[in-house]
Amino acid sequence: MFGAPRSKEFDDVYFSAENGLEETRHVFLRGNNLPAAWEGRSDFVIAETGFGTGLNFLAVWKLFLEHSQPHQKLHFISFEKYPLDAEEIALPLQPWAKEFDTCLPRLLEVYPALIPGFHHLDLDERVRLTLIFDDVNVALARVDAQVDVWFLDGFKPSTNPDMWSETVFKHMARLSRPGTRFATFTAAGAVRRGLQAAGFNVKKVPGFGSKRDMSVGVFVGENMAGDGV
Ligand SMILES: C[S@@+](CC[C@H](N)C(=O)[O-])C[C@H]1O[C@@H](n2cnc3c(N)ncnc32)[C@H](O)[C@@H]1O
Repeated sequence: MFGAPRSKEFDDVYFSAENGLEETRHVFLRGNNLPAAWEGRSDFVIAETGFGTGLNFLAVWKLFLEHSQPHQKLHFISFEKYPLDAEEIALPLQPWAKEFDTCLPRLLEVYPALIPGFHHLDLDERVRLTLIFDDVNVALARVDAQVDVWFLDGFKPSTNPDMWSETVFKHMARLSRPGTRFATFTAAGAVRRGLQAAGFNVKKVPGFGSKRDMSVGVFVGENMAGDGV
């Protein structure tokens, strides 16, 4: 049985039941101006809150394979407090087995045992996935990187406020540079205000499918941020 997996605990889906891959492309790829954002960059870093099934990662890896130069490298860092095992991610990703014909088998091949902590996975010579099995609020403090793009994909803020905490936003600011972008499926006021307080300009844009709004933004630094990108 295929379909979008659902978390009973958070009363939310891992990705859209309408079309998970199209949602990922709309919210996280186009929302972050990818692939244009990595043009001319030899090393590009994306960080994601909520690895889930890995659909976002597979979509960005595929895009990178299609739209990058041979010298460019991608580092994808993702946090996951309640990791699924390889079998549990393989099933919901089956609808895109053809789309990810080389990437999905490789991800499943290197996918780690569910041991807490940092797992550094070299998918190929140019793409590294650092999968961190821990609470994002705890693990972010242990990360040292300059992030170019954030994918904020925790379950919805009303049922999982922990994923959208001041701690997360403060560490996002610490790891961002002026021009670092973020995109997220939510347009919740508390999230927008939290990101602004941390130094991001935040803009509401049309969401995917039946969702009216989502949010995108750019890091400009504390005391500089407001509405608009
Ligand atoms: C909407 S799903 C992410 C979907 C995912 N990006 C994908 O491509 O399938 C949200 C994820 O956040 C994880 N999560 C929830 N609270 C968390 C926390 N405090 N720290 C880290 N991960 C968390 C959930 O277990 C879930 O996998």
